[in-house]
Amino acid sequence: MTRLKIFTVFASLMLFVAACNNQPNHKFQPDVSGKNQAEINRKNDEHLEGDHVQNAAELPVLTPEQKQQYIDRSKQIAQTAFKIFSGRLKQLFQEKKPEEALEYCHANALKITDSLAKANGVVLKRTSYRLRNPKNKPTAQEEKVMEIYRKQILKNLKPKPYMHYDEHGYPHVYIPIMVQQKCLMCHGDPNKDIPEVINQKLSELYPSDKAIFFKEGDLRGIWSIRFPKNGKK
Ligand code: HEC
Repeated sequence: MTRLKIFTVFASLMLFVAACNNQPNHKFQPDVSGKNQAEINRKNDEHLEGDHVQNAAELPVLTPEQKQQYIDRSKQIAQTAFKIFSGRLKQLFQEKKPEEALEYCHANALKITDSLAKANGVVLKRTSYRLRNPKNKPTAQEEKVMEIYRKQILKNLKPKPYMHYDEHGYPHVYIPIMVQQKCLMCHGDPNKDIPEVINQKLSELYPSDKAIFFKEGDLRGIWSIRFPKNGKK
């Protein structure tokens, strides 16, 4: 009997220690039992807030309005990039030149993000957990944000832009990029969504392409936008 008691106390202690140890991991476990979306989203934010930031105490505390300003600015930048891409792509599709559309992305995607970054004084990146261009490789932090977004989608939550100070103390915004029907001809199922000319070009230009087999509504990736610290880069 006493032995059983000692064992029970020991076991609960171990469970407690394990639970405490789990915390720094920041594993995302949304609780959807009867809570509304706002409450869940608030929890998700808190979860990301807990990330370790160097010199956190020295960073100015941002009001929700200031955070929103960073998010709005980031959305504008991402939308500008999207407009530049889709304008030209539309034209090439109308001219029935899908393989040229692909070449256009290949030749210009990084150039466009780089020039937009310069023009806006930010570090701008489009990344994914399944990459086409290995140069768009995510950081550990970006991977973590995408993991959270994907879990939100599995729970039927809509991922939303997120702003925080990153691990180096920079104001940093992430914007989810979702797969739409029109993306499938280059990112969908190679056997049914992607035309043969594009399949061929893809294997030529991106031999290690992982950005296929996406479905409408999947997370395709994120925009990751790093702002200067106190006006300095
Ligand atoms: C005409 C073909 C084409 C279409 C249509 C297309 N993409 Fe892409 N996408 C590409 C190519 C090519 C790249 C690689 C660009 C590079 O070399 O940086 C790419 C890269 C990306 C990346 C960067 C991450 C990575 O894997 O390298 C994201 C994010 C992305 N596409 C999202 C989308 C979304 C969202 C849509 C639909 C709204 C879309 N794409 C439609 C061809 C296309």
